[in-house]
Amino acid sequence: MSSPTTLIIGKHAKTGSRVDALLRAQGHATRAVSRSTAPAFDWDNPSGWAQAMAGCRAAYVTFQPDLAVPGARETLARFIETAKQAGLEHLVLLSGRGEAGAQQAEQVLMNSGLTWNVVRASWFDQNFSEGFLIEGVLQGEVALPSGDVPEPFIDVDDIAEVAVACLTRPELANTLFEVTGPELLTFQQCVAILAEELQRPIEFVPISARQLLQGLEAQGLPEPMQWLMNELFTVVMDGRNSRLEQGVMQALGRPARSFRDYVRKTAASGVWQAAETSAVVGATAGVQAQ
Ligand SMILES: NC(=O)c1ccc[n+]([C@@H]2O[C@H](COP(=O)([O-])OP(=O)(O)OC[C@H]3O[C@@H](n4cnc5c(N)ncnc54)[C@H](OP(=O)(O)O)[C@@H]3O)[C@@H](O)[C@H]2O)c1
Repeated sequence: MSSPTTLIIGKHAKTGSRVDALLRAQGHATRAVSRSTAPAFDWDNPSGWAQAMAGCRAAYVTFQPDLAVPGARETLARFIETAKQAGLEHLVLLSGRGEAGAQQAEQVLMNSGLTWNVVRASWFDQNFSEGFLIEGVLQGEVALPSGDVPEPFIDVDDIAEVAVACLTRPELANTLFEVTGPELLTFQQCVAILAEELQRPIEFVPISARQLLQGLEAQGLPEPMQWLMNELFTVVMDGRNSRLEQGVMQALGRPARSFRDYVRKTAASGVWQAAETSAVVGATAGVQAQ
């Protein structure tokens, strides 16, 4: 008999794509969805959720844009009710650290009666290669606030492996894994490691949260994302998350991958070579230190 299908919310997303690949490599059936798939899944359009869930028994759930945004808890509660009606039995939820709204949303899942896991993650390494910081790396200038606040950046390959362990090992059911990388690094130190490994100048430029927000607004970043960036850089990045946690070791029995190993592996993929071939206008363009 074939294994039941696992729903993955976030087909092209940083963790969802990796959870999908790992499960498939182990022979599990998956259905990875997002707004651009058929069937589609859109957090802003609950009418399509049941169709995306049909026939699935478990799901890996990544919320957009972030569980901390106002209304996320209510949307997740509605998602969980739809999941129950669709016959899902086990949800693995990706969450963020030090965010009051995210922790309230986690509680909704824990109290739902479904089998649950929460994977509560620190800042992703891959924000520098697959997210809003890549353009700064390509341009040789990463302009951010909170440059001196230590954060235990995590490799999303580790998050995906923890999520897959939750989905495939029943003994891990009903457990929260708080996952971080193995070391505390500031944004400034991350940029220094990138420059060293890529062997080209990449400068960290300290700016205020207000300057960052003004730049993102000028680029037309959607309002919920602006709210989120403000929350992250004026509230969450105050040092509250400047500590290591052992979720990767607890789930996988091995330490988390280091930021330098992430940079070496990612450099080999060629994603940061575009700087030599094209002019890129990036997320930090227009956000200049004053
Ligand atoms: N980035 C971090 O450092 C970090 C740290 C801790 C936790 N998290 C959490 O991880 C999750 C993913 O965050 P991320 O920013 O890194 O994004 P991401 O995983 O890269 O996901 C981006 C994908 O989300 C899909 N998407 C966007 N809006 C959607 C919607 N309304 N409905 C369904 N799918 C949608 C898009 O695909 P389509 O265009 O095809 O829909 C896009 O490919 C969030 O819940 C975040 O809070 C992130």
